[in-house]
Amino acid sequence: MSHLLSIDSLSRDDIDHLMRVAAKMEPVAQRRKVTRVLEGAVLGNLFFEASTRTRVSFHTAFSRLGGSVCDTTGFTFSSMAKGESLYDTSRVMAGYCDAIVMRHPDQGSVAEFASATHVPVINAGDGPGEHPSQALLDFYTIEKEFARQGKALKGAHVLMTGDLKYGRTVHSLIKLLSLYAPMRITLVAPPGLEMPQHLIDRVSKQGLDVEVCANLNNDFSDVDVVYTTRIQKERFTAEMSEGFNLSRDYTVHKAFLDQHCNQSTIVMHPLPRDSRPDANDLDVDLNGDPRLAIFRQTDNGIPVRMAIFATLLKVEDQIEKDLRDVKW
Ligand code: CP
Repeated sequence: MSHLLSIDSLSRDDIDHLMRVAAKMEPVAQRRKVTRVLEGAVLGNLFFEASTRTRVSFHTAFSRLGGSVCDTTGFTFSSMAKGESLYDTSRVMAGYCDAIVMRHPDQGSVAEFASATHVPVINAGDGPGEHPSQALLDFYTIEKEFARQGKALKGAHVLMTGDLKYGRTVHSLIKLLSLYAPMRITLVAPPGLEMPQHLIDRVSKQGLDVEVCANLNNDFSDVDVVYTTRIQKERFTAEMSEGFNLSRDYTVHKAFLDQHCNQSTIVMHPLPRDSRPDANDLDVDLNGDPRLAIFRQTDNGIPVRMAIFATLLKVEDQIEKDLRDVKW
């Protein structure tokens, strides 16, 4: 692959390969082993929208491979504030950087940026479009959690809930999971925030068994993964914002998990979760419950993003050699 813009560019073999490379990166991510394979390389980490995890974990992943990082956060710290186009910015950054990670509020903008450069570009979220590296780390987490529980991926049941319209992580994840069909997917979204029908049609054709439920008041006792997302009010139109309050009927909390799911159901969330009292996002009453996988999920961001860099920058063999040669 030359860029990572969408799950569309990845085959099942590509994803399996990235998962294997990520597993090899674990000791480097945890600083038990060292490689300086990207020494001298520079990452342009361009975030035109807020981020904590994606920005910092890409930065950390590149740094722990020996590279250095140049961060730009927000439009005001870039010459885009003076009207510079994506095309010109891309051409300029390509002269300075060996890889570029970019988040932007407009769907399609990262692909437009990438089309102007030969330097590998990673889509770190383009508006309500996609967030492919998040889907890869989500899948890595599911595989790891299933391995720990002795569960098979084939035929697994994933419940996706929350803002499925604007949540770019679920758009990427459902496409990714369709490569691993047969699987069951249940979708629960508040009215107006449903998964786009074209995505449901597409993944159904690819073999996912997709069911839409109106709310969480159902029997989900055979669900293996509850994947919940924040309501992305920042993407609402003015009419949608007017009086919108998420009913607690759509909130994942301990009583929901105890009464509707089972003891091995894991709970995932791409984060951030909205902690404001009226947000009704994933409840903190699950903090400390081993079924809550959200911080194991965030930790997995480092090895998976290292694997993405290793693959895009074609340094996997050198890393293998470094890790083999070093005596511990
Ligand atoms: N999951 C995710 O994209 O988080 P950030 O917005 O903090 O990067």
